[in-house]
Amino acid sequence: MWTRALLLTAALAALAALAAADDVEEDARLDVPALVRKYGYPLEEHEVETEDGYLLTAHRIPRAGGVPVLVVHGLMCSSADFLVLGPGRALGYLLADAGYDVWLANARGNHYSRRHRALDPDERSEQRFWRFSWDEIGERDLPALLERVRVVTGRRRVHYVGYSQGTTALLVLLALRPQYNARFLSFHALAPAAFVDYHDDARKDFLVRFESVLDTLAFRHGFGEVMPRSDAMTELGLRLCRDGARAQPLCARLVLGDGEYFNQTLLPVFLGHNPAGAGVRQILHYAQVQRFGRFARYNFDPLTNLARYGRARPPEYDMRRVRVPTHLHYAMSDRNSLYQNVMVLARHLGAHAALHRVPRHSFNHYDFIWGGDARAQVYDAVIAAMRAHDERASLH
Ligand SMILES: *[C@@H]1O[C@H](CO)[C@@H](O)[C@H](O)[C@H]1NC(C)=O
Repeated sequence: MWTRALLLTAALAALAALAAADDVEEDARLDVPALVRKYGYPLEEHEVETEDGYLLTAHRIPRAGGVPVLVVHGLMCSSADFLVLGPGRALGYLLADAGYDVWLANARGNHYSRRHRALDPDERSEQRFWRFSWDEIGERDLPALLERVRVVTGRRRVHYVGYSQGTTALLVLLALRPQYNARFLSFHALAPAAFVDYHDDARKDFLVRFESVLDTLAFRHGFGEVMPRSDAMTELGLRLCRDGARAQPLCARLVLGDGEYFNQTLLPVFLGHNPAGAGVRQILHYAQVQRFGRFARYNFDPLTNLARYGRARPPEYDMRRVRVPTHLHYAMSDRNSLYQNVMVLARHLGAHAALHRVPRHSFNHYDFIWGGDARAQVYDAVIAAMRAHDERASLH
């Protein structure tokens, strides 16, 4: 009796593990539309053209009549960030389950938005495609995406969820084009990234000191694009980081840092979708923010600055123009968005911003998209705040 029950349990566990392994392998290789459809959700792909000719892909989990939520990924990431944890866990699915019309953006230059009406991303000598930072993502990509949401749904106003660089982009938009404040019902900033008054990572000092040299070198030698998505990375992840692989602990440490709540089984899925590529100036722009101690527009040489901005030094993004009700979700162990810097941002935003500290002290930057407990620690609070905004709006 006991042995039979034991055998049965063991067999079931083995079967479950096999099924999970199959899912992991499949989910690592599927692109976002196939991944979402596999889990029984509808998925639309929208090609959106920006005013300067970039062709972006928005992934929509549609909900007729639902309030639209625009969700914007982080640096070198993609719409997949909000899906890889799977149904019941990932923010994209949770928002859909809560009745929202979910629009997952892909910023210019990443795997899903590596196209342009005239410029060729693979052209190596001039690399004109790659001459952008998150300034352009905020100023030009977001308006194009909002316009598509409006045309398709008839709604001018959306909730916005940004992760890391996705938070930077909205702050940029609202500072440069404050008329867009009227287009947002609320702003949920996960791991907000703007001011870098505090820093503690010596590894970044080199990058920061030499950012302008690196800009010149990158474009001279054909490195305008950094870390594009690659099948090799997917295969490496599947080979070295899967359950049972001897290198999995090392792999986990390299990819996830010292996180405790990551589901290591999913490592190959994370690596199948990340990194998803970016322009080198997205990184250098953050380095400039730290180097000059200013949250300001991209710094070129003084003559180019003069031509672009009418002054030798790039202007700062004026946070007084940000008037959207903002929720800043920050984590105490986030090494990329240090909580001290989030406090600086909160001071600049004043009464428009509410601070939400993630309860678990060890929560880090990647937990916001990959943490096994991201739902309990962050997402449920985001959706509750969104609902509260909707209820208040319907009272008026
Ligand atoms: C980890 O992910 C696998 C594959 O999706 C899943 O079967 C398992 O339940 C997850 N474990 C935890 C602790 O969440």
